[in-house]
Amino acid sequence: MAIAARALGPSPYGPPEGGLRNAADLIVRDAVAYAGRCDPRVSVSGEVVTGGISAVLIGESRRAFAVVLGDRGLGGFTGLLVGSVAVQVTAHARCPVLIARGTARENGPVVVGVDGSPHSDRAVAFAAEEAVLRKTDLRAVHAWTGPASTRAGDMLPLVYDPELVGEDESRLLSEATAGLTERHPDLLVAHRVVRGRAARTLIGQSHGAQLVVVGARGRGGFTGLLLGSVSQALLHHAECPVAVVRAAEV
Ligand SMILES: Nc1ncnc2c1ncn2[C@@H]1O[C@H](COP(=O)(O)OP(=O)(O)OP(=O)(O)O)[C@@H](O)[C@H]1O
Ligand SMILES: [Mg+2]
Repeated sequence: MAIAARALGPSPYGPPEGGLRNAADLIVRDAVAYAGRCDPRVSVSGEVVTGGISAVLIGESRRAFAVVLGDRGLGGFTGLLVGSVAVQVTAHARCPVLIARGTARENGPVVVGVDGSPHSDRAVAFAAEEAVLRKTDLRAVHAWTGPASTRAGDMLPLVYDPELVGEDESRLLSEATAGLTERHPDLLVAHRVVRGRAARTLIGQSHGAQLVVVGARGRGGFTGLLLGSVSQALLHHAECPVAVVRAAEV
């Protein structure tokens, strides 16, 4: 493997303010100033770190409350819907990752996708706290297309009564959000049980929301996967910012 080494300092043939290090300092200084203007109550600091982009951010995630990224960077190929750093960091981070994309509706609800898995439980807790902080409602959404299988390899009936299945799915949603009102007495929680595919349903619900929150994984898929298909679809297509939350103990 060839590794290109580049000097960080200004070139001896160019102006003293040239060079990668100076350019990086300027980016961080601008970002700190911008963040301070966005909300003067927040204390803001900046740092230039040398290293691989994703590796540095994943390292920071061990000590952070959340990592926030934009959905596109400077180097995006036009075909990519979301930058590769955003996907890598979301897959490996040790704390919630927020992807700033689409439009955050100021008075819209915080939407959370619920499938009954430990990751989605963690997403529900995070989403409830976000809704309280933002003084808005929480909308818990569960999508279903057929009877739920609880484990990979479970047999699913070919014929089922949609009404009975719908009742089971409503129960799943109620159980996943039980206890929220005790913890957050002033939080309004709306339940939506939707017959349809999860990714499409949540992308639809992201329209008009402030934030959509999902777990990194759900109750399906291969155990080796770091990001499930629903969370990936939201990273690429949600119409508002997305938070991806990982259950630490899983
Ligand atoms: N049916 C659903 N209704 C609402 N939200 C869902 C549903 N399925 C998944 N989600 C949300 O998406 C998150 C990630 O789940 P996802 O389905 O992407 O992973 P997975 O089940 O591990 O893999 P896959 O389904 O791709 O095989 C869940 O934690 C939950 O927040
Ligand atoms: Mg799933």
